[in-house]
Amino acid sequence: MRATKFIMTKREGGEHSPEELASFISGYLAGEIPDYQVAAWLMAVCWRGMTGPETAALTEAMASSGDRIDLSGLPHPVDKHSTGGVGDKTSLVLAPLLAACGATVAKMSGRGLGHTGGTIDKLESIAGFRSSLSDREFLEQARSVGVVIAGQSKELAPADGLFYALRDATATVGSVPLIASSVMSKKLAGGARSIVLDVKVGSGAFMKTLAEARELARTMMAIGAQAGRRMRAVLSAMEEPLGLAIGNALEVREAVTCLQGEGPTDLRALCLTLASQVLAASGIARGEAEIARALDSGLAFERLERWIAAQGGDPTSLANLDLAPDQTLVRAPRAGVLSALDALELGQAVRVLGGGRDAKTDPIDLGVGVLLQAKVGDPVAAGEPVATLYHRGGHGLEEALRSVRRALSVADASAPKPLILELLET
Ligand code: URA
Repeated sequence: MRATKFIMTKREGGEHSPEELASFISGYLAGEIPDYQVAAWLMAVCWRGMTGPETAALTEAMASSGDRIDLSGLPHPVDKHSTGGVGDKTSLVLAPLLAACGATVAKMSGRGLGHTGGTIDKLESIAGFRSSLSDREFLEQARSVGVVIAGQSKELAPADGLFYALRDATATVGSVPLIASSVMSKKLAGGARSIVLDVKVGSGAFMKTLAEARELARTMMAIGAQAGRRMRAVLSAMEEPLGLAIGNALEVREAVTCLQGEGPTDLRALCLTLASQVLAASGIARGEAEIARALDSGLAFERLERWIAAQGGDPTSLANLDLAPDQTLVRAPRAGVLSALDALELGQAVRVLGGGRDAKTDPIDLGVGVLLQAKVGDPVAAGEPVATLYHRGGHGLEEALRSVRRALSVADASAPKPLILELLET
């Protein structure tokens, strides 16, 4: 293929055929097309966009660039993807909950970057937990326990790994067709038949407006539907963090309370909505009240313990996770009602305490974080504690305190904002 002609077609706003996209991807993987030509094409896509059929063909080519996991034969293989938020520990709750409801969750997840956390980091705050599994171990555990979450295999959609590194370095991440094809190539290769997308909207999310989130959700759903997957999407608010805990071990502790039928109401509500959507898509018709019984009866928690043990973790350590030893309180500046808890600022606070990374290879401190004592809409007295910072000997504390103080607003009155903004079906 002539890469310059391909780039020029997109630069002029033209449409690529599926064959052209497939040979561009295979030429890049084979080292025949250099990074600088791919980077030029990525920038042309940012400006010109892609049609629906082009985006679907790009996704297929990326999904076919490596291994595909075969989950056929397993009962109701389902998956969930979140576009990333602050305090978002839903996968930790959802995976055992869905398994307790009769579905199979065999999922690959990522690590945190910037102000957002990642499921694999959270799981690694459990003593002994192994996130690196062979294909055989992954499938065997899916079969025997009904739930397995491992780190993203390099063999799954390898074209996406190469593209993503280049996009990161060339300011070409923010494009709906590129984000949608990146996410969905991994989902298609991952083998689940029913997929629910949790597309976050707001200051703490990639997508700042409802219209942008809807466009991304619709694009990903169309790709999935064309590939024969049953797709649902939930658009959910990410102005304030989800739940009260932000930071890896703190979030695992909160997910455990949710699996024991307790914990923050927003976290429980979002997990129940996501669960009912993906179960309905996969043909398991359960109302939210019935799904909630799996949380309240201990069934989902039991499944969590079996899952953690199967991956080498110590389930008894869930009651006593390793948190950073030092704590500093932040108090309400005046009496009133909490009117904002900016998710982006709070995510940044955890990052500077050492709980998040700037570059993919940075080491992180799994025990640091921020634990909120109130949510937007709650009344507070002057000087009442509203957040506790968990830190290690004051590392990053001054900057984190500044972020937390900027994140907080107290007003005379404020109503809680809706969490679930829209449900979408194909
Ligand atoms: N997450 C992904 O996997 N890909 C993107 O492009 C953005 C977020």
